[in-house]
Amino acid sequence: MNYPASLIGRDFLCLLDFTAEEIGAMIDLAAHFKALKKAHIPHNTLTGRNVALIFEKTSTRTRCAFEVAAHDLGMSTTYLDPKASQIGQKETIADTARVLAGMYDGIEYRGYGQEIVEELAQYSKVPVWNGLTNEYHPTQILADFLTIREQFGRLSGINFVYMGDARYNMGNSLMIGCAKMGVNFTACAPRAYFPDQALIDKCLEEAKASGAKLRFIEDPKEAVAGADVIYTDVWVSMGEPVEVWEERIRELSPYQVNTALMAMTGKDDTVFMHCLPAYHNLDTGVGREMGERFQRDAMEVTDEVFESESSIVFAEAENRMHTIKAVMAATLGWTE
Ligand code: CP
Ligand code: NVA
Repeated sequence: MNYPASLIGRDFLCLLDFTAEEIGAMIDLAAHFKALKKAHIPHNTLTGRNVALIFEKTSTRTRCAFEVAAHDLGMSTTYLDPKASQIGQKETIADTARVLAGMYDGIEYRGYGQEIVEELAQYSKVPVWNGLTNEYHPTQILADFLTIREQFGRLSGINFVYMGDARYNMGNSLMIGCAKMGVNFTACAPRAYFPDQALIDKCLEEAKASGAKLRFIEDPKEAVAGADVIYTDVWVSMGEPVEVWEERIRELSPYQVNTALMAMTGKDDTVFMHCLPAYHNLDTGVGREMGERFQRDAMEVTDEVFESESSIVFAEAENRMHTIKAVMAATLGWTE
């Protein structure tokens, strides 16, 4: 399985850094790895390599995806929880990067500002992979696009609608990915939750080449008409203060994905997607606390939609592993 040589040795920080061909090639490679995995065909030709996984925020999918993918490729992993390491407290990011790059073949970083992962990459001589920052979550978008391609057989021309807080990591990264890959992107939210105008302008430039249409619409009914995919994310992201829940619930409730909204697409094959974790019932600590405090039984998506036939969230979650494997493999120069 070939992929562009331009990917070898590269950092994976933001999808803006990659061409549509490179993004498409990583999705193709992920599909190849998925087929190998399903057929129990080993693909561990990176045996002997080692990767470091730094998580300054919690994770289920991303951490597990990196660990399983690395092991499938033959690599060993070290999980670094900053509370149990020197990062930030006693050692700078620049020093950490140079220490880890001397021992590891690649470094994953999940944390706060994008500038932190950029600094890590600047001082690391081995590839650095962004496992989520406040601004971007690029590995998630590869998984989302593999899932959409599996569902509809294509990306180009798909009508993708993002409901809710579109100015954070998921909204930003999905808009970039759609603009690059010719997917029609609609952000549906109150105006204050639209992505930053400078990023919109960059994406409009990208869309000129791909043919994607980008729209920013406050009215849910208008936004979802003709949607193939309705996507949402939590209203309060990791690292945000608990105090913002009240305002988010007030401002974003009209943008909840529920059965009535799904019906407004006018299509019977619209799918529901979510990067997860999701507050679709009161069976989690935060979900219960906020649900009871604000007298709601769900937040960004109802349990009915989450559990419906239209929901492809678990196929999407599985694809995190196959796509993260492709990112590591391509940047580390994997060969069949
Ligand atoms: N979607 C996602 O990144 O999930 P985790 O926070 O569990 O890694
Ligand atoms: N916006 C969410 C995404 C989680 C995968 C967060 O940053 O918490």
